[in-house]
Parts: sequence; structure tokens; C-alpha cells
Amino acid sequence: MSKLFQPTQAGDIALKNHIVMAPLTRNRSPGAVPNDQNVEYYRQRATAGLIITEATAITHQGQGYADVPGLYSKEALDGWKRVTDAVHAEGGKIVVQMWHVGRISHNTLQPADGKPVSSTNRVAKAKTYLVNADGTGSFADTSEPRALETAEIPGIIEDYRKAARAAINAGFDGVEIHGANGYLLDQFMRDGVNDRTDEYGGSIENRARFTLQVVEAVTKEIGARRTAIRISPVTPSGESYDSNPQALFAYVVENLAKYDLAYIHVVEGQTGGERDYRQGDNPSFDYKALRAAYEKAGGKAAWMVNNGYNKDMAVETVENGTADLVAFGKPFISNPDLVERLEKNLPLNTPDQSTFYGGGAKGYLDYPLLEKVA
Ligand SMILES: Cc1cc2nc3c(=O)[nH]c(=O)nc-3n(C[C@H](O)[C@H](O)[C@H](O)COP(=O)(O)O)c2cc1C
Repeated sequence: MSKLFQPTQAGDIALKNHIVMAPLTRNRSPGAVPNDQNVEYYRQRATAGLIITEATAITHQGQGYADVPGLYSKEALDGWKRVTDAVHAEGGKIVVQMWHVGRISHNTLQPADGKPVSSTNRVAKAKTYLVNADGTGSFADTSEPRALETAEIPGIIEDYRKAARAAINAGFDGVEIHGANGYLLDQFMRDGVNDRTDEYGGSIENRARFTLQVVEAVTKEIGARRTAIRISPVTPSGESYDSNPQALFAYVVENLAKYDLAYIHVVEGQTGGERDYRQGDNPSFDYKALRAAYEKAGGKAAWMVNNGYNKDMAVETVENGTADLVAFGKPFISNPDLVERLEKNLPLNTPDQSTFYGGGAKGYLDYPLLEKVA
């Protein structure tokens, strides 16, 4: 049997295989509270070695889309406890993706209709997702943000720390800090967005400071071996460009090496798009060099990869040691029993894009299992 299907370890988390369910926003938690449908959705997918939840806002300010869950109200945490209990009852493992969207938000989603916060005052040419009064969803332009004052940043780091503690109390096996896809931490890391002149802007060291301080606070609170981070070195979502992503992310991972993290999660290429995507005039990103930089600095965390993987690629990547874990996104939307299908070389259901974001059970809970197909 291929190594892909055999047990492994990510920090303190024991996985029954090397297959991970990638974080997938589904906009089905009105009021930011996980509900019965969400419990059932994650329960159905508990044969994954590890489930990473959909991105989950650490605070109301961290919200950027309608009907995404949070980690900050008692109701939400009670809802998540039911999700983690259901996954554990099936023998699965689950971590929560901790999210602050920064400027990828809309006034109407913010506390007191305020401006979203970011590294900059400049608005992103990007869309967010709102639910209209009649219950239908639609995409809308993101609102103008305000640059965080330097003195406000420790408060947001504290929000991450509290959310991590709340997540562990809600039964999660660990947390994944969302450092990818153009959200708050990415908005600080990249020189195409970050135009600050304080100690959080300018040099790579300054731009990476916020992310690394979040990692420091979270690892201190819940332990490094239950802490992970996701990065997407070249993904341009939310106009998150950088003039030298190779140098930026080498610095980031070198500075993560001193923590005994559960895993580092790297989206290779443009999230959901080309695997060989390049930012601007930059050369192709060298992911092997990224891992080598991490390991040279003493890093030992499991290395997780994602983006457009199929079974053959995943088997090869894990067998040859390029990565330890492979995360699948869209295939897990439409195949709750993805692990079994991959193992037995059985056909996969095709995901229905029209039901990705928002709605009810259709396209969420009703993808057929193998036994029903056969
Ligand atoms: C419907 C949908 C929602 C997503 N939501 C998130 C999310 O909440 N957090 C995140 O980091 N990535 C998110 N992604 C990106 C996926 O985690 C993954 O990187 C992407 O789908 C590529 O992997 P795949 O080719 O296996 O689908 C989302 C993708 C899709 C299709």
C-alpha cells in the first residue's frame, strides 16, 4: 500500500493517513454559528487523515463574507464543539483555520459598520460575498479599509491568542493560522499591499513581523505541536503581490523553524489555478528551495502541499519525500469518502461550482458515497 494511505504524525496530531481536507469556505453558518448541517458535513468527511475547517473568523472584525463561521461567540464555540465531537466519534482529526480577512471585507460585515482594517488605506480591487435581504447571495466590491495604527497590532495578536485557546477548548486538535490568499497577514507580508513606514512595513523582516508575532503568541498559548500555518507564496488574491516572494517566504519559513510546529501548509502556484503561476516578472517559484531553507534553519514540521493534486501526484510526492501531507480541496467537496475512492482507484464525483458558496444541503450534504454509487 502506498505511504499516502498509511498513518503518520503532524506534531502532536496522529493521522490515519497522509490525506488532508483543505480549508473550504462554504458560507453555510448564518450568524457565524456552526449548525447541524455543518456538523453533518464534517462528520461525513472524517475519513481524511486530517480535516482543516473552512476559514473561521477570530473576531467580528476578522469577518469578510456573509455566513462564515466565527470563533468568538459562545454559540459559535458550542457549535464547533459539536463538530469536533462528531469528527472524533468517527475517528477523525480536525484543526480550525484561524482567519482575519483584513481589507477583504465590507462595512456591512464589520462591527458598527466600520471600515475593515489592513496594512494600508488602499482598497483592494476584490470581491466579497454578501447575503441580500431576501436570502440570496451576491458578490460585492470590498470596502475602503483603514491602516491599523501600530499600537492596535498587539490587540489583534491577542485576538489570535484568545481564539486559539477557545479552539482548543472547543475540542480542536490544533489550529492553522491563515497566512495565505491575500488576507490580513498576507496584506502585511507583501510589498505590493503593505505601504507602512513603522516597524511593520518596509523590509522583509518588518513585513513578516506581524505573522511571526502571531505564531509566537499562539504557540505560547496552545503549544507549537498543535499550531500550523498556511502560506500561498505566489497567489495574487486580493491584489497580494510581492516583488520577491522567494526571498520573503524563505525568511518567513526560516523564522518558523525554531518552533516545533505541527505542519507548514504551502499552496503551490495560484490557489485554485495554475500550479506554475508567477507573480509579475518574478521567476517560477522554487518550492523545493523553500523547504530546503526551512530545513537548513532546523525546521522539522510536517510539510503539507496543496493545489490541483490528483492521486498519482499525491502518491509520488509523498513517496519521494517532497512533502509529508497532501491537502485536497474541491475533490473533498464532492467526495466525502475521497480517501476510499483514491485508495481503490474509483471514480470521483464532480463538484458543482454553483453550490460552493451559500445555500443549504444541496451540493453540501448530498454527494453520494461509494456504496450508493455501486
Ligand atoms: C469553495 C472553496 C472555498 C475555499 N475556501 C478556502 C478557505 O476558507 N481557506 C483557504 O485557505 N483556502 C480556501 N480555498 C482554497 C482551497 O483550500 C484550495 O487551496 C484550492 O481549492 C486548491 O486545491 P484543490 O485543487 O485540491 O481544490 C477554497 C477553495 C474553494 C474551491
